[in-house]
Amino acid sequence: MDSTGDVFLSHSEPKILNLLADWFDKELFAHSLRVRDVAKEMAKHFKVDVEKASLAGLLHDFGRGIREADMLSEAKKLNIPVNYVEKINPCLLHAPLGGKLVVSRLGIKDVDTINAISRHTVGEPQMSDLDMVVYIADMIEPARSFSDLEKIRDFGHKRLLEVFELAYVCTLYHLLKWKKFIHPKSFEVWNWIQSSKIEE
Ligand SMILES: [Fe+2]
Ligand SMILES: [Fe+2]
Repeated sequence: MDSTGDVFLSHSEPKILNLLADWFDKELFAHSLRVRDVAKEMAKHFKVDVEKASLAGLLHDFGRGIREADMLSEAKKLNIPVNYVEKINPCLLHAPLGGKLVVSRLGIKDVDTINAISRHTVGEPQMSDLDMVVYIADMIEPARSFSDLEKIRDFGHKRLLEVFELAYVCTLYHLLKWKKFIHPKSFEVWNWIQSSKIEE
């Protein structure tokens, strides 16, 4: 079921593209295509499953098809646990919502792909290489522009964990700079990065 050949299951990529073109607005559809392309490029470079990276990149924002005002109630319906930071900022739920919705609406069954979609905003301790690729691709896709992005885009001579750390620093820095709430799981992800570096 989870082998590479079964990732798309009953859906070919053109069929998924048609569904997304209906489900997303133009901007989000274009962003999803760019993230797919960067995720593919990174997957080739870091020897991650390219087909899974492509699909997870394409579908990473599937949960954004739900209106932000409906995200809390939709999460409740789908038994997604919601913490106090997500109550304040329900948009964070688009990642776990997307992970659930690609299963129920698209029939995606590949656990690695579903995890990468669910983990692309806050992350998770024990991120897989695929999870990290999708997280980073979302941050560095060509339409993004903010300082320090070039350091992350220049991933050619860096280890994947090192690139992910740079990306995560950017996220945390942004939250601190703008005095935003930090998801409690972010501390676990940060400490997982540091302990993984010691083990390497
Ligand atoms: Fe997202
Ligand atoms: Fe995104």
